[in-house]
Amino acid sequence: MRKIYDWLYNAGVDDFDIDLFEGMYNVPNGIAYNSYMICDEKIAVLDSVDAGFGAEWLKNIEEGLKGRLPDYVVILHIEPDHSANIANFTEKYPTAKIVGNDKTFVLLEEYFGKDFTDKKVLVKDGDTLSLGKHTLKFIFAPMVHWPEVMTAYETTEKVLFSADAFGKFGSYDANEEWDAEARRYYFGIVGKYGMQVQSLLKKLSEYEINAICPLHGYVLDKNLGHYISLYDKWSSYQAEEKGTVIAYNSVYGHTKEAVSRLSEMLKAKGEKTVVYDLARSDSSVCVSEAFRYSKLVLAGTTYNGDIFPCMREFIHYLTERNYQNRVVGFIENGSWAPVAGNKMKAEFEKSKNIVFAQNNVKIRSALNGESSAQLSALAEELINM
Ligand code: FEO
Repeated sequence: MRKIYDWLYNAGVDDFDIDLFEGMYNVPNGIAYNSYMICDEKIAVLDSVDAGFGAEWLKNIEEGLKGRLPDYVVILHIEPDHSANIANFTEKYPTAKIVGNDKTFVLLEEYFGKDFTDKKVLVKDGDTLSLGKHTLKFIFAPMVHWPEVMTAYETTEKVLFSADAFGKFGSYDANEEWDAEARRYYFGIVGKYGMQVQSLLKKLSEYEINAICPLHGYVLDKNLGHYISLYDKWSSYQAEEKGTVIAYNSVYGHTKEAVSRLSEMLKAKGEKTVVYDLARSDSSVCVSEAFRYSKLVLAGTTYNGDIFPCMREFIHYLTERNYQNRVVGFIENGSWAPVAGNKMKAEFEKSKNIVFAQNNVKIRSALNGESSAQLSALAEELINM
């Protein structure tokens, strides 16, 4: 049990047993499932934790209650990493009410197959819940990351309980940079829903905020402008930094050689350049880096008359997350029937505001004088963009 302030505790847990979050994302430093507890004249617990941690969570709550009983469990987000133990909670504390919105209760009953009617406290956007000196105002945030998501703003201390927003991978105390793991989390989990995040940020701009308590990651109570500014950039699909990401696949090393040469030329001219071998890199890192920088070069081979599988998958990860407002260039390699260049470009045909480089590179099997010249031209063009 972590004490945040005199009136606020975190009864959440760290999960170090997990291999892949949502069955997909590497979490080398685990992940925190936070569950905040407001102790006032009334006691409210905000959200629960993942299925395997019910006993630890209930023990933490019992410690925080100091012999009292909870009045409410508030569900800001019904996804099972935050709601799996709600039924266990109601069994242990049958007098506690469940606070949620109409969508919350539909999903709650779907997950647990139970009727919670006698415990329901139904709230609408903008409604408040008084706990004594502290009051929660509910600010709905649909599709950040599920349709029922709502945030809660504590009006006395000006603390925002932000649900998945402003979360990150890693345990609560993981010794790692917030930006990198929050960026990877954001583009992995919420990246598709930039418009909805923008709507939430617009609503929140009317409130003074002293601290943000997310469901994953630690409480943010300093330099909030930094985090909010990053969220604004991410959700409006603006690049954080000028620079080039080169993402490639290579079968026999010839495409890799072209990538190395391009990278050297760019770096020699002072361009921030990062390179990822898509077959050997964590895809969530590659995706988050592509969104971080302003320019992207895709270097891929033709395979089975199509784009190489890891390249095709990478481009899909980008486009399904509404990748836009970027420069994209291509290096293709094909020995007898090259198609990858056109096919990679076609994958972006529904993407908004993509500026395609004019000097793309066509390698036939291995670099030669002609393709080397194209590579130099691409480097020159990227430097000037
Ligand atoms: Fe952490 Fe969308 O659940």
